[in-house]
Amino acid sequence: MKNEIVSQITTECPWRDTLLWYDRLDSTNTYAKKLAQEGAPHGTVVVAERQTGGRGRMGRSFLSPAGGVYLSVILRPACPPENLMHLTCAAAVAGCKAVEKACGVCPDIKWTNDLVFRGKKLGGILTELMLSGSGVADCAIIGIGINCQKPTDFPPELQETVTSLAEISDTCCTAEVLTAKLVESLYEMAQQLFSHKSTIMDEYRRHCITLGKEIKVISGEHITYGTALDLDADGGLLVRFSDGSEKLVTSGEVSVRGMYGYL
Ligand code: BTN
Repeated sequence: MKNEIVSQITTECPWRDTLLWYDRLDSTNTYAKKLAQEGAPHGTVVVAERQTGGRGRMGRSFLSPAGGVYLSVILRPACPPENLMHLTCAAAVAGCKAVEKACGVCPDIKWTNDLVFRGKKLGGILTELMLSGSGVADCAIIGIGINCQKPTDFPPELQETVTSLAEISDTCCTAEVLTAKLVESLYEMAQQLFSHKSTIMDEYRRHCITLGKEIKVISGEHITYGTALDLDADGGLLVRFSDGSEKLVTSGEVSVRGMYGYL
């Protein structure tokens, strides 16, 4: 499996030499964090065939049976954390490019970190920062999971809201090819993260299905409704709320009306 992935990554991508492959991990993000604490360098890629404790945003779990793609990469950007606000957006764009290159289908993005296809969740991104004592970002872990399993393999409660590449395309690419394209896209993204920030954010905007939609913003116990207007330069979501006020939303849960069962 590892050789099948590495052989599909262009020789121009140095991350093909720093790819670690496991048949089972609890979470590639958790393992990548451990490696980072032990000093693993920028560009260390961790891939697992399945995860037993895949993690999503806001403490959720991410179902990770064999057949899907589960990958984390360690970045060492050596900059203040506020310079990395757009990292999840950049990773989402890289994820879309990889899916398109590998499988010929182009996903949308639901703000901030979901890859979606025809309104159903295809995958997700979990970005985690580790700060050094001086407050600089010692490392960032980008984790991406993409569903490839047969739709009948989803638990019944997810069937309406989740999709997979196997459901989208009969001639779906293999997990190995998709993993290879993800490594290439993430490498390119890391190279351009600061120098091409506005181009990356323009691409994100083009993919972002949330813009122009009615949304529900859940922040703790607090639920508000509004319309997603635009993104700021760092990927914050500008929202016009039902009371007429406009505010930037940078965290919390944002549901899009008509998606994932929000009617
Ligand atoms: C989300 O949907 O909220 C994000 C899901 C992120 C899942 C990926 S799979 C690889 C990496 N390891 C994890 O435990 N999570 C991320």
